[in-house]
Amino acid sequence: MSFRFARAEDKQSIMEMMAYCFPDYQNTAPESRMAESVQVEPENEERRKASEEVLRWVLVNEEANGKIGQHVMIVPLTVHFDGGTLPMGGIGGVASLPEYRYGGGVMELMRQSLQVMHDRGIPLSELAPFSYEFYRKCGWECGFRWHELSIPMKELTLFKADKGTFVPLTDALMEQAADVRNLHGSHFNGAEQIDAGKMKDSFQEKGLLGYGVLGGDGRLSGYALYKLKEHAIHCRDFFYRDITAKRQLLHFFNRHNSQAEILRLTVPETDTTQHLLGNQYLDVKSQSGMMVRVVEVRQALAAMRIGAALTGTFVMQVSDEMAPWNRGNWLVTASNGHLDAVRTEEKEPDCVMAIQRLSQLVYGFLSGQDVAESGMMTWRTEAARPLFDKVFQKRPTAQWIPF
Ligand SMILES: CC(C)(COP(=O)(O)OP(=O)(O)OC[C@H]1O[C@@H](n2cnc3c(N)ncnc32)[C@H](O)[C@@H]1OP(=O)(O)O)[C@@H](O)C(=O)NCCC(=O)NCCS
Repeated sequence: MSFRFARAEDKQSIMEMMAYCFPDYQNTAPESRMAESVQVEPENEERRKASEEVLRWVLVNEEANGKIGQHVMIVPLTVHFDGGTLPMGGIGGVASLPEYRYGGGVMELMRQSLQVMHDRGIPLSELAPFSYEFYRKCGWECGFRWHELSIPMKELTLFKADKGTFVPLTDALMEQAADVRNLHGSHFNGAEQIDAGKMKDSFQEKGLLGYGVLGGDGRLSGYALYKLKEHAIHCRDFFYRDITAKRQLLHFFNRHNSQAEILRLTVPETDTTQHLLGNQYLDVKSQSGMMVRVVEVRQALAAMRIGAALTGTFVMQVSDEMAPWNRGNWLVTASNGHLDAVRTEEKEPDCVMAIQRLSQLVYGFLSGQDVAESGMMTWRTEAARPLFDKVFQKRPTAQWIPF
């Protein structure tokens, strides 16, 4: 086995592996998007550079017979986090040819992807799992939860006064849509920051319908991407910059009551849409979302924003099988709205937890209190707990794009 970065001559083998491992996802899945970027034959200098850049993020395992047995790709992205933005490595295209499966090759590539992200200063990572169990072994843990609200159309008559100026979401509006999307996304830890080009791609690739609503300033104030299928509207991309735009979009959906009986709206678990409705007997389906991971403890903690009045210290012991730089005792100091973590050998830990749990705490998917009360971490010195619980508060998390 030889683990290395992919080379230009590996492209054909990688394409064949993607086609074998992701046959159902051709043309729609991010795996095919990535495979395409690997596939692109360099036609000019710009393309050649882009292709080289992609290869810098692709890890493969070359078997003794020279065949590429496994493949993992890191997609360098930027996500919203606690009011700022942070680099995030999306993991995708995790694949292994059947003749080489159960040999530990993918696990090793996952370990190496962490090393690459660490070396390149990326503190967070996210991925869409086929199995939570599989990626938990590598240190990722569930970080997002979705609620699919089934809203009968008649419930939306509540918004009949919220008339708006509705416009088809054309290419000319992509820039404004990206602004709305980023403003909305900035309220959720882990949501990808996107630009107009990416907006257009994801919208068109998914073959969705798109409409927006204009605000008082004549600019797009909200939009939705959706499908009309079997007398239902299915919508997961529902973004707005204020409550006026949100109510207008809910009214917009009701204008489809001749075509659909129900709106199936998928929103982050912390979304409050159901509280706006008149009836609470709504059918709500809860779905686990993508997984998250702290790649670099010190950097991730430093990026968190905590209460300005919080001061004090605690020592936490972190176990991390795949990222030795995170392992051990950390003295964490809270001051001026920030956390600073330094390694400590002398001090005994106040609490002990695995990297999977710390990742959920850093993102804000779970609170310190939730984790302690459900026995998902161990407390040795209770005195440090009040500060810890105030530092690790539950915050909204969401990631709309799998990669
Ligand atoms: C999933 C996949 C990448 C695993 O490849 P692999 O080469 O078998 O992976 P490894 O040998 O490195 O896996 C080692 C560990 O994962 C476990 N594992 C392997 N396949 C698993 C599965 N389908 N479900 C749960 N665990 C699995 C092994 O038991 C082993 O665990 P252990 O070390 O505790 O015994 C491969 O089956 C594949 O390419 N599938 C099709 C594409 C796909 O679904 N990719 C994932 C997209 S998110």
